[in-house]
Amino acid sequence: MNILRFQDLVSAGRVAGRRVFIRADLNVPLDDQGAITEDTRIRASLPCIEQALGAGAAVMVTSHLGRPSEGVFKPEDSLAPVARRLGELLGRDVPLVSNWVDGVDVAAGQVVLLENCRLNKGEKKNDEALARKMAALCDIFVHDAFGTAHRAEASTYGIAEHAPVACAGPLLSAEIDAIGKALAAPKRPLVAIVAGSKVSSKLTILKALAEKVDQLIVGGGIANTFMLAAGLPIGKSLAEADLVEEARAVIDAMQKRGAAVPIPVDVVVADRFAADAKATVKASTDVAADDLILDIGPQTAAALAEQLKSSGTIVWNGPVGVFEFDAFSHGTEVLARAIAQSPAFSIAGGGDTLAAISKYGIERDIGYISTGGGAFLEVLEGKTLPAFEVLQRRADSAK
Ligand code: 3PG
Repeated sequence: MNILRFQDLVSAGRVAGRRVFIRADLNVPLDDQGAITEDTRIRASLPCIEQALGAGAAVMVTSHLGRPSEGVFKPEDSLAPVARRLGELLGRDVPLVSNWVDGVDVAAGQVVLLENCRLNKGEKKNDEALARKMAALCDIFVHDAFGTAHRAEASTYGIAEHAPVACAGPLLSAEIDAIGKALAAPKRPLVAIVAGSKVSSKLTILKALAEKVDQLIVGGGIANTFMLAAGLPIGKSLAEADLVEEARAVIDAMQKRGAAVPIPVDVVVADRFAADAKATVKASTDVAADDLILDIGPQTAAALAEQLKSSGTIVWNGPVGVFEFDAFSHGTEVLARAIAQSPAFSIAGGGDTLAAISKYGIERDIGYISTGGGAFLEVLEGKTLPAFEVLQRRADSAK
């Protein structure tokens, strides 16, 4: 992908003394007291900020937090907790600036955090006047917000069109590279794990991946719908009967290419959805009318684990069972550990997947952990994200 990278500007000595505007994704979860409960995205944004400061730039950073109403400030929408955490991590004071659209005071070697960009009127709709004002604040616009790369908003898209220079920061660049490695030119066999409660929410992903991957492992409610399509009983398990035909079409499309959707040969069932429900392993053909499938069975998990260990590339989105309940976490754990042990390049993304990775402590064994939620899913759907499109356009026109 032809995109200008911030690193190239730094290496070329084009950043010193410049006003650099970094759009980060610092949209982190907060508890009821407003304390940050998980700061991965803040830590993932540090390299770009440190690089800009190290190069002697005057640094402005902004992000959205939640989905506030534009033009109405409420204390709970403030980036204040993020500014404090960023300050701790950078080891320096990070002043938070409100009402910043018409001008920001920041000197070379300093960093300021610009208050929640979604408070600005016109942000969501990518208002041109707002985007032009933001662009006028800087010499260099750096898009480093992969988590928001699927949104075309004023601070992610419009500003990239109008800023004197627009480039990708290190986080966005790393995501582009990892996605390219996994999907554009993958080492084969390429295996995707797509799991979640509903086929409907991931149908486009399943269809797009059915064209590309050698194995499509489905899990959760999605697997139940595929089991129905394969003529298996699923009892009272979560499934979408109206999407059975779509599931069958995915299986057929894969088969035509000599690829496969492995259907579970055994499952773990319970009589209710609860952490203390009794877990029973059954052959997939033996699921009773009042059974609830909550995990793949040990035989299925072992067979899939073997395949994962000999894959070239693994794309992982979604746990294959109710891994939050210990009795139904076995399938997800076996697959997670197989991915960790596999020599394959692996890329994982999505909130539940990240929670599973952290539960099993395998962060270091995954090739790349995406910071994107919705953005990661849209990439899997085969969409060109607005962030990549605009940065590519800017790079092409600068040639
Ligand atoms: C996310 O949390 O997935 C990103 O920060 C994007 O947030 P949004 O869905 O509110 O645009």
